[in-house]
Amino acid sequence: MIEIRGLTKSFQDLNVLNDINLTIEKGEVVALIGSSGAGKSTLLRSINLLEIPDKGTIRIGELEVDIVKRTKAETLELRKSTAMVFQQFHLFRQKTALENVMEGLITVKKVVKEEARKIALLQLEKVGLLDRIHHYPKQLSGGQQQRVAIARALAMQPQILLFDEPTSALDPELVDEVLETIRKTAEEGNTMLLVSHEMSFVRRVATRVLMLDKGSIVEDGTREEVFTNPKSERTKQFLANYYRDREPEFAI
Ligand SMILES: Nc1ncnc2c1ncn2[C@@H]1O[C@H](COP(=O)(O)OP(=O)(O)O)[C@@H](O)[C@H]1O
Ligand SMILES: [Mg+2]
Repeated sequence: MIEIRGLTKSFQDLNVLNDINLTIEKGEVVALIGSSGAGKSTLLRSINLLEIPDKGTIRIGELEVDIVKRTKAETLELRKSTAMVFQQFHLFRQKTALENVMEGLITVKKVVKEEARKIALLQLEKVGLLDRIHHYPKQLSGGQQQRVAIARALAMQPQILLFDEPTSALDPELVDEVLETIRKTAEEGNTMLLVSHEMSFVRRVATRVLMLDKGSIVEDGTREEVFTNPKSERTKQFLANYYRDREPEFAI
């Protein structure tokens, strides 16, 4: 379980997250939606302390971290309990797919090399890349690179997986293979918080949907509740705008 209390973050005088309170149970697949600039990436980055919030507490399993009073050891522990998949993949360019997946296991989790290799191979098999393990990122398609990034995140066995628009940097024809990998990951019972603009995917895969607006959670419900009967005016507007210009078959 992950529990966030009173999370606040400003950049200079710009208030980006306002007192976020959020509990995610084990196995929940939570989609985070909202307009550009709403604070979605900042929230994800704050959960693993890539961005340091101004205040708040984050509890992941047994570990409870008060941001203001945190120790170095708690910061490391919190980072180890989470894994992030970014829009731009963020793979090490000079390492092969296999080495990319092994890296965090060896340096962060202190797993011995042979064991790291076994875990990495297992995860690369799961994302369908056993035939690409010795390829470097530049020899892989965007979709394959993102699947390596997903394998790398899964290999760390985090308590929560954080996905920040994992398909928005991909060519359209490569989106489906990555969504399919994420769907499988969700089905396996992983706890996930996913920022996505793919509403049809969110409707299919998320068990719960949050809408972030100007740094506040304005909607929190099951996918049925949020897509068929949103409570907040902002969510209604957001979904109406989203579907307005899209193919009729995607409409609510
Ligand atoms: N490092 C930063 N320095 C200053 N402002 C930032 C920084 N990161 C994000 N912001 C601002 O915070 C707001 C929220 O950004 P972000 O979390 O990226 O939103 P989203 O992911 O929902 O599009 C935006 O106004 C953005 O310009
Ligand atoms: Mg973002």
